[in-house]
Amino acid sequence: MAIDLRSDTVTQPSPAMREAMAKAAVGDDVYGDDPTVNSLEERVAALFGQEAGLFCPTGSLANQLAIRTLVKPGEELIVETRSHIVRAELGAAATFSGITTRTWPAEDGLLRAEDPLAIAHESAGPYLVSTKAIAVENTHNFGGGTVQPISEIEKLASAAHARGIAMHLDGARIWNAHIASGVSFVDYGKHFDTISVCLSKGLGAPIGSVMLSTRERVNEARIWRKRYGAGMRQVGMIAAAGHYALDNNIARLADDHARAQKIAKAIAAIEPTLLNPDKVVTNIVGLELSRLGISATELSERCKAAGLWISALGPYYARLVTHLDFDDAQCDEAIEILKRSLVAK
Ligand SMILES: Cc1ncc(COP(=O)(O)O)c(C=O)c1O
Repeated sequence: MAIDLRSDTVTQPSPAMREAMAKAAVGDDVYGDDPTVNSLEERVAALFGQEAGLFCPTGSLANQLAIRTLVKPGEELIVETRSHIVRAELGAAATFSGITTRTWPAEDGLLRAEDPLAIAHESAGPYLVSTKAIAVENTHNFGGGTVQPISEIEKLASAAHARGIAMHLDGARIWNAHIASGVSFVDYGKHFDTISVCLSKGLGAPIGSVMLSTRERVNEARIWRKRYGAGMRQVGMIAAAGHYALDNNIARLADDHARAQKIAKAIAAIEPTLLNPDKVVTNIVGLELSRLGISATELSERCKAAGLWISALGPYYARLVTHLDFDDAQCDEAIEILKRSLVAK
């Protein structure tokens, strides 16, 4: 069987998770009748100190519903250049919500509060676009799974709020950030007006994200979720996987981080220009291949031929992501395949 490190979304629901799903109490969630969904929404909201939650099929939808409650058509959201919201949601903010975006670049995706604050323009009047919200991605996926410093989040949130600018957290992998930093979910959550979290990445649920905010914004987002065609019915079977993931799969993320670190160190020992292992702090290992002169596609094809799947995300940028279906023996095997593939002519 191939070792699949393309993403942490490739995991299979475990037998115990499937059993929890099969046993879930369900109801029609469009009527608000699904007890498992309701309890999941309340549970995740409480975890982050937010008032209410909305179960969504995807992280992209949770992000998009959240930001449209903060930013009106023709107004602006500021995000980091390589964040998922602008790079991988296919123009959804513009297409569905008439939101314009402006970006700031950050090395490794890492937040420095001064960067977004320098370009934000909260009351631009009739000439320029007014900034209504700033989004922060934590961990930062295309930045290499980096963890945003809580001190910079605090600085940014207090300055932005003082200027009437709202804060959104794309917390698809906030679980990994928490494990790596030790910062509690509430301490992350308190700085943000809206949050999206994913249960379907490192936590291993097959589907599911939750949008969090005030009750008022969540009620508004609930209407938009239905309008987009994502009002779901007996979806407690899926929400049960989310409960199971929260009960069982947070602490074990430390294993994913340790395996990513082991891979990073082994690769750096072969070719130090590919990455700095000190920057690999969660479950994502990004390889910058330009100085080695192998394209990401070439490397991924070599690896695939040897039984290891990785992602080619840019011409010279490849990514490996560790996850709960990847164990120590596979980690050793993956390292051997990478070693051979990197030196092959
Ligand atoms: C940082 C980040 N945000 C949001 C998403 C969107 O999640 P989904 O694929 O469920 O739409 C992803 C997906 O990989 C992500 O990495």
